[in-house]
Amino acid sequence: MKLIYQQMLAFFTIIVLLLTLLGIFFFQLTKSLIYENAWNQLEGYAYSLKTDAMSETQTSKGKVIFSLDSEKLQNYELLLQNQEVHFTIYTSRNRVLYPQTMGFQSIISKKDWRKLKKGNIIRRKNDLSWKRGPGDFKEGDRQQQKMTDILAPCFDQQGDLVAVISVGAKVSSLEESFAKIQRSLIYMLLISAAIGVAISYLVAHYTTKRIRQLQRATRQVASGNFNIQIPNKDRDEIDDLANDFNSMTFSLKKSEKEIKRQEEQRRQFMADAAHEMRTPLTTINGLLEGLAYDAIPEESKAKSIELMRNETKRLIRLVNENLDYEKIRSGQILLKRQNFEAMHVLHNIQTQLRKKAQSAGDTLEVTGPNKLNVFADYDRFVQVIFNVTQNAIQFTQNGNIQISAEKGFESTIFRISDTGIGMTPEQLKNIWERYYKADASRKNSKYGESGLGLAIVQQLMQLHHGKVEVISHPDQGTTFTLIFPDEKLTNDKV
Ligand SMILES: Nc1ncnc2c1ncn2[C@@H]1O[C@H](COP(=O)(O)OP(=O)(O)OP(=O)(O)O)[C@@H](O)[C@H]1O
Ligand SMILES: [Mg+2]
Repeated sequence: MKLIYQQMLAFFTIIVLLLTLLGIFFFQLTKSLIYENAWNQLEGYAYSLKTDAMSETQTSKGKVIFSLDSEKLQNYELLLQNQEVHFTIYTSRNRVLYPQTMGFQSIISKKDWRKLKKGNIIRRKNDLSWKRGPGDFKEGDRQQQKMTDILAPCFDQQGDLVAVISVGAKVSSLEESFAKIQRSLIYMLLISAAIGVAISYLVAHYTTKRIRQLQRATRQVASGNFNIQIPNKDRDEIDDLANDFNSMTFSLKKSEKEIKRQEEQRRQFMADAAHEMRTPLTTINGLLEGLAYDAIPEESKAKSIELMRNETKRLIRLVNENLDYEKIRSGQILLKRQNFEAMHVLHNIQTQLRKKAQSAGDTLEVTGPNKLNVFADYDRFVQVIFNVTQNAIQFTQNGNIQISAEKGFESTIFRISDTGIGMTPEQLKNIWERYYKADASRKNSKYGESGLGLAIVQQLMQLHHGKVEVISHPDQGTTFTLIFPDEKLTNDKV
């Protein structure tokens, strides 16, 4: 069965069941109220009859005589007949006192007599049979009539039962009211059922509409469209589901973007790596062909072989650096971090690079305290400082390069500043990318050419939980700041 019908059936059943129960309850309640009302009225008549038309008189001998005022009783009878109310007065011995003529008379059971003697007023629904006939009637001249009545006892001053007044009304007049109520209830039930069907259809339609919306969205996602969000107002479980669905499409979109980015990166990397390797390979190939066809004069052969060696070294360095970068990036290298004296290392680097600096016409200075502790992997620390200082020399002609070191807040800070060509903000954004060279004309310079140096520096600083910052102005110079966190801080982070 379709969900909409299932829901409608459930709603409809609940509505109809509820209305039927309410209807029955309401009908019973009104029925008993109507009876209650009728009995109260009949009791009122009995009381009036007793006070108006019945009296006790004492004889000279002191005997109490119970007497009826027949004129008043007749008046009452006429008056009540119009309302289809009949009354009978009995003696305490179950003999009819009034009316003597034809009238409605009720039968009082022995049980009722016992109750009456105790002074109880008896209310009877429609179970009794009133009979039309004279006071002492015989079988045959009776006409049964369904009546509801009350039996009220009358006592004399001594407290003895002297008479019983029975006042009854036709049940048929009450039944008319019941039928009316019943009819209204059935109408009400039918109208409510119709409204129930309409409401259950609307609710079910609304719910299934939202489910269908989810279904359509799921199909879209299945066909590869992740740009889909379902509006939701956080009202119910369907909205929760929509919420989860939205998070799912968001994640899918994110991973799709990431896959595309990685794919693009891989493609770029392959292109760049091929491009980087082509230059040395072309050089080597050219020289080898020259040698093979004896096109190179004898005196240049040694120089050509030297050139080929250099190009091969460059290729090996390129491959090694790539491998190194990948290892660092994929977390395959483990740092052996330790505390060591940094100034000593800086002076060593200064000695190693002094010659290069001199050939570029640069001065290379190291400043800082006599002793300065740093917490890092020794070899990787040297690699980082060496790389950045080498860059500074590479991009500075006849200038000054300064390596300074100081203690920072829970860290050790190194600054490498140069007065070289500097970089524009646009160039600065890309220097951490692999193979990036700010200016194509800088390619194949003496020291660095692969564009991997800073990419490796950045990865190594991240591995150290450190920071690297750079400030640069074109034609003014560049300052790289490297911050190595202290041992305590590093341990906390690990
Ligand atoms: N001190 C500096 N002054 C000016 N430009 C710089 C400086 N340091 C780096 N750059 C720019 O950033 C680019 C990337 O530097 P990176 O060290 O990554 O590569 P590279 O030096 O070209 O090659 P290598 O892989 O051999 O180091 C450089 O090509 C250069 O354009
Ligand atoms: Mg470099």
